[in-house]
Amino acid sequence: MAATADALSPREYRRIHRTLLRSRRNAGRENEPIPKHYLQLPAEELDERIAAVRRKLGERVLVLGHHYQRDEVIKYADLRGDSYKLATFAATRRDSEYIIFCGVHFMAESADILTDEHQSVILPNPTAGCSMADMADIDDIVECWEQLTDAVGESIVPITYMNSTAALKAFCGAHGGIVCTSSNAAAVYEWAMERGEKILFFPDQHLGRNTGLKFGIPLDEMVVWDPAEPVLGGNAAADVRNAKVILWKGWCSVHTRFTVTQVEFARRQHPDVNVIVHPECPMEVVQAADYNGSTEFILKTITEAPAGTIWSVGTEINMVNRMAAENLDKKIFCLDPIVCPCSTMYRIHPAYVAWVMEDLLEDKVTNQVSVDPDVAHWAVVSLERMLTVH
Ligand code: 13P
Ligand code: SF4
Repeated sequence: MAATADALSPREYRRIHRTLLRSRRNAGRENEPIPKHYLQLPAEELDERIAAVRRKLGERVLVLGHHYQRDEVIKYADLRGDSYKLATFAATRRDSEYIIFCGVHFMAESADILTDEHQSVILPNPTAGCSMADMADIDDIVECWEQLTDAVGESIVPITYMNSTAALKAFCGAHGGIVCTSSNAAAVYEWAMERGEKILFFPDQHLGRNTGLKFGIPLDEMVVWDPAEPVLGGNAAADVRNAKVILWKGWCSVHTRFTVTQVEFARRQHPDVNVIVHPECPMEVVQAADYNGSTEFILKTITEAPAGTIWSVGTEINMVNRMAAENLDKKIFCLDPIVCPCSTMYRIHPAYVAWVMEDLLEDKVTNQVSVDPDVAHWAVVSLERMLTVH
């Protein structure tokens, strides 16, 4: 059985939720602005300054880069990956004192939770967030959980997608749940179904639905929970009772741009095309595609494909363009002819990387991502569960 809220004493339950709510209030703290002169430095000088810091600090600094980072930034990364791989790097590279995380806030938070006390995780631009992660607020999740457990009285396993705040990961840790990424979502569903009757999946309804279908759960056993609706997320009690999966109404603004019409157009233009998409795309797009998986899966599949193959890709444009440039023996293009960058990933600019790295030379840790220890205590539980399921 799942460790539901009932497994915690009422006192402990309230204490955890007070901690989570406090962490939400602290989450908006202001960071100092970047000194203006950094923004005026030419690209070559930024390169030289970053190289100089690396020469001085050597292996004390590790730069991690997510596949969606622009070329001008990803070139600084010692290690690249999807969000799962980056979390495993953070969890295993104990020798690096400073981890410069070129990605978005939820990834850096997870890295901070998984690293040791002596390590500092730095997000060069603290405003690099994720609009999907912002769609699930801890207050609303707590409210949803209370209504759900009152209504169905069954064991529910909460799963949070990696793209969520540390408070949501802590919520899962404290309630018998787990974190998943797009690379282990199906295995995580299996883990959850062995432990409870229902899954509450947040914040991405599309990954949750696509994974449910992969796992053989019919559409009529998945309901969408709309946090704007005051009662049962806008669902009838009977539908919630019947559901195997309750999907939070969140989505990615980049991946919901892809459509079946685009898939059909690509197939008309290139009858031999392979269509590969990220599972944050809507269900109809994933079903119309030939392959779907995490950014690492997309990269590996295309890199290992035979020369001469044609690929239409439904994911972020910086990654698609880089794969096209690195695989000149294949034809690779974006499914959406109107390019779709992730605007928050794009907030990491070389000027920010140079700024936070030069500050390290003066022992100043700028833009450190530091998760409240009480939140980290529970978040590490769900993240470590995630790392064991793949
Ligand atoms: P991956 O885990 O596949 O890298 O996805 C992260 C992400 O934010 C996709 O939008
Ligand atoms: Fe968030 Fe979408 Fe950007 Fe991924 S691509 S970081 S889900 S906004």
